[in-house]
Amino acid sequence: MSQITPAQQLFDLTGEVALVTGASSGLGRRFAEVLAAHGAKVVAAARRTDRLKDLAATSPNISALALDVTDTKAIPAALDEAERAFGPLTLLVNNAGIASGGRIVNTQDGEWEQVIRTNVDAVWHLSRAFAERIIARKGSGAIINIASLVAGRVGLSSASYAISKAAVLHMSKAQAWEWARHGIRVNAISPGFIASEMTDEYLASPAGQDMIKRVPQRRSGQPSDLDGTLLLLASSRASGFITGAEINVDGGHALA
Ligand code: NAI
Repeated sequence: MSQITPAQQLFDLTGEVALVTGASSGLGRRFAEVLAAHGAKVVAAARRTDRLKDLAATSPNISALALDVTDTKAIPAALDEAERAFGPLTLLVNNAGIASGGRIVNTQDGEWEQVIRTNVDAVWHLSRAFAERIIARKGSGAIINIASLVAGRVGLSSASYAISKAAVLHMSKAQAWEWARHGIRVNAISPGFIASEMTDEYLASPAGQDMIKRVPQRRSGQPSDLDGTLLLLASSRASGFITGAEINVDGGHALA
């Protein structure tokens, strides 16, 4: 019988080097803080570098990286810069994302393209560049893709956003399948409605308040509600045999 590992050790991320995209606010900022608090070195990437500098000032484990994830040509240089900060990357959290407007017939072409470039193309390109590095050095690592409750449900958000998140979820499974043999685990977190810059206005509106009444737990989430799932999927000690999974963190909303 193998030894029981105490929880503190199970979720100790010392030695891991993470890249978190969209880390200037909301979930991304929280992910960077939680990983760093558990010993990982974290490269916090986003466009708003002033906010990243504030974040980096809170922990010696966090470094700031300017990155627009839609600038796919800039990815190799950005990963080089990330690895100069703390060494070879072992964790990638594809968190950067944008919401979008209305019904399909009212969605402008530019809006559709921007959602797909940010929420889908960027995850494709960043994950591939990350995996190539791990495969080349015969290392191991993990990718956590932030999908959404709406990956499996339409009608709760705009169609373009729901479609982009369904693509992220399917991409996670395809990546998990292809890269398991290379020691890379890939999993998705599908949050329900979580308070953030993306959702604050909606959650405070009458429509948002109405929606909350249909969530089985009758509340929206806080970024901290994702801490445990993030740590579970980031730690190879805790989830070394989990790949291709989707974990809903939604107060039961997917059931409603
Ligand atoms: P947020 O708007 O606070 O965070 C999104 C972050 O992504 C921002 O920091 C933003 O600057 C960054 N970002 C957007 N485009 C970027 C680009 N081109 N390059 C670099 N960074 C870029 O919103 P939130 O809620 O923290 O969203 C984080 C992720 O969680 C997103 O992927 C979102 O779709 C997903 N999500 C959020 C839910 C919620 O209820 N808040 C529910 C389900 C999924």
